[in-house]
Amino acid sequence: MLGSKPCFRANSSEIFKTMLIELRGAGVRNLENFHLEPHPKLNIIYGRNAAGKTSLLEAIYFSGTGKSFRTSATQNIISFGDDTLWIKTLIGSCSTGFMDNITITRHRNTKNVFKVNNCTSASISEIARIFPIQAIHPETYQLITGSPVIRRLFLNKGCFYIDETFVKIWKRYNHALKQRNAHLRGKTQPQVLTAIEKELHESGTLIDRVRQNFIAALNNKLSESRKFCPYPKLRLLYQRGWSSSVELAESLYDSRKADIKAGYTSPGPHRADMILQLEGRNVKDFFSRSQLKLASISLLIIQLDIIRDATHKDCVLLIDDLSSELDSLARDHLVNELHDSRHQCFLTSIQNDDVNQSNPANHKMFHVKHGRIIES
Ligand SMILES: Nc1ncnc2c1ncn2[C@@H]1O[C@H](COP(=O)(O)OP(=O)(O)OP(=O)(O)O)[C@@H](O)[C@H]1O
Ligand SMILES: [Mg+2]
Repeated sequence: MLGSKPCFRANSSEIFKTMLIELRGAGVRNLENFHLEPHPKLNIIYGRNAAGKTSLLEAIYFSGTGKSFRTSATQNIISFGDDTLWIKTLIGSCSTGFMDNITITRHRNTKNVFKVNNCTSASISEIARIFPIQAIHPETYQLITGSPVIRRLFLNKGCFYIDETFVKIWKRYNHALKQRNAHLRGKTQPQVLTAIEKELHESGTLIDRVRQNFIAALNNKLSESRKFCPYPKLRLLYQRGWSSSVELAESLYDSRKADIKAGYTSPGPHRADMILQLEGRNVKDFFSRSQLKLASISLLIIQLDIIRDATHKDCVLLIDDLSSELDSLARDHLVNELHDSRHQCFLTSIQNDDVNQSNPANHKMFHVKHGRIIES
């Protein structure tokens, strides 16, 4: 860990806890400068429409990923009238007894700059290992119904945590893929293609192996019952991106002619996908919107559980607009399950009654009013 500072001694009940201890920031959307000390388990962020609730979750997500869950144009997160945003987080890990200070700064026309413990310029992979984070939002059902790109990102995120070599293999594969595509569009030489395809075959087969392990872990956990998603027979069907009956090298060789015509490489793990099925039927074709939402949430929470098993770290889970599309029964089951889980959760809601408030020690409430965040 990058110069982490000791913080507290782990006790047996908190042994794997990773959590956001403190959050400060400025220049984020409509939010005034903020400073929060969240609850280790559950944090409810409530307020009227357009108050800034999603913006607060976005700030937390941005601080751990350098990305937004609602836009690819991250410069839009910077407040109108400001040129810079910064967010500082203090992340504690009870498993190691250390804490890390992460700062992200973003100027309007430059890239994100991450620092860990005020001195080291850090990569996004390093930050992701210190601060695993997941966001669930009203578009989350697209994990099932949307483009395969979304599902590949989901697969890759799981693989990143379960296998430390995955990023390296992924980079190797993509480098070779670019080379092959460029070659297909130029003056193709069979012996050069053969050399590139050898590299694609080796790295692509490794990617596929890690993904298969991740899918097996997902399917294993899908069979465990979850009150908020009562479909224990959900299963993922993995499609690796090329024919299941041949090796990748053979598939690449066989597709040369078609690929030269198309100008890009068709077989390979860059075309992988997964299909969520219930008793053999693709749920995308018949699930209702709320069923899709609950099934997607299940997949994301299971992903976090697998990350925890692999890394011994809990994750920070952000849930935006909890109530949308869920009735009170599904919502209560979900909140109860989140409460029992070890992940530190942040939920946004228009109402402040998404959690049983009889025991305030179980959670903290934050009221967002015209961009000002007040602990209540
Ligand atoms: N870059 C920006 N600078 C300043 N204000 C912004 C920026 N981007 C968005 N806003 C405004 O910030 C406000 C808060 O938006 P946000 O999406 O966080 O609200 P919300 O509380 O989640 O609302 P809802 O209940 O409708 O989901 C909105 O009025 C929005 O127009
Ligand atoms: Mg919102």
